[in-house]
Amino acid sequence: MQTFLHGRDMIGDLDFSKEEVETVLDVAFDLKRKRALNEPHAYLRDKVLAMLFFFSSTRTRGSFEAGMAQLGGHGAFIESKSTQISHGDTPKEIGEIFGRYYDGIAIRHVDWGIGNGYLNAVAKASRVPVLNMQCDIYHPFQCLADLMTIVEKKGRDLRRKKMVVSWAYAASYQKPMSVPQSLILQMPRFGMDVVLAHPPEFRLMPDIMEQAREQARKFGAGFEVTDDMEAAFKDADIVYAKSWGAMVHTQDTEEGARIIKKYPHWITDERKMALAKPDAIYMHPLPADRNIEVTDGVMDGPQSVVYDEAENRMHAQKAVMALVMG
Ligand code: CP
Repeated sequence: MQTFLHGRDMIGDLDFSKEEVETVLDVAFDLKRKRALNEPHAYLRDKVLAMLFFFSSTRTRGSFEAGMAQLGGHGAFIESKSTQISHGDTPKEIGEIFGRYYDGIAIRHVDWGIGNGYLNAVAKASRVPVLNMQCDIYHPFQCLADLMTIVEKKGRDLRRKKMVVSWAYAASYQKPMSVPQSLILQMPRFGMDVVLAHPPEFRLMPDIMEQAREQARKFGAGFEVTDDMEAAFKDADIVYAKSWGAMVHTQDTEEGARIIKKYPHWITDERKMALAKPDAIYMHPLPADRNIEVTDGVMDGPQSVVYDEAENRMHAQKAVMALVMG
């Protein structure tokens, strides 16, 4: 068990070693048990986390803010538009100055080609940990909650479990590709055989794909890519199907929106779920476009674990915050 994580950033999924992620899981399960028993666990008394948002959120804001309060501290919600960032405060100012007020700086910045660079620039100037509440490349806290949920449903030994990470149709907006990228980086480290399914235009970033292949090789897991959603679902233990944008293929948002419209049949419905194993679980980070991306029948059905997954955001984040900010 690797326990000395004080002061560490979590920006990318591979920032923590597999052993360190195991520690996060152990602490997260302990904190979940403590909350269930109403046992106090104020490991961050008087500590304050800055939560800087450049993009909207339901779960991330709620779970970080509630988590900080439960740890005895406070989460300060800051919308970028209410700051002086548009009037000249650079990432250096944010890192230097917030690093002197706060005990941690959490940031959500999903703008394509900008978000991850922004987080790293803040981290370079900050004396306190920087936590990635989602950028254009990674969504590491979502991925930790997903891993925790899979362990709860499938057990700690996940070797040879088949996990499908699939693109799904959604017309609302071009969603970031950070969730599938985090999943393909992290899950092979736990022995899951990952099958990534998407139409050709929705490929992920080439260097992330290479890193995912490397993790799969290192940890003896499978990693395949297909453009056939139904073939991917066959005999899956875990189905994780969500939409993302065609940003690697084109940065023209109108063209991206036109491409999405070619694939309305990439919906997760009861017929496709029946191709997976009978005890397969359905996962989605939410928000989902109901009856477009996934049917109500699947989302509200017996195989769906989406609300446990959302709850686990809070436990996983509390674990990391207690470890790095304590
Ligand atoms: N899954 C997730 O990050 O949800 P929010 O966008 O609501 O924070």
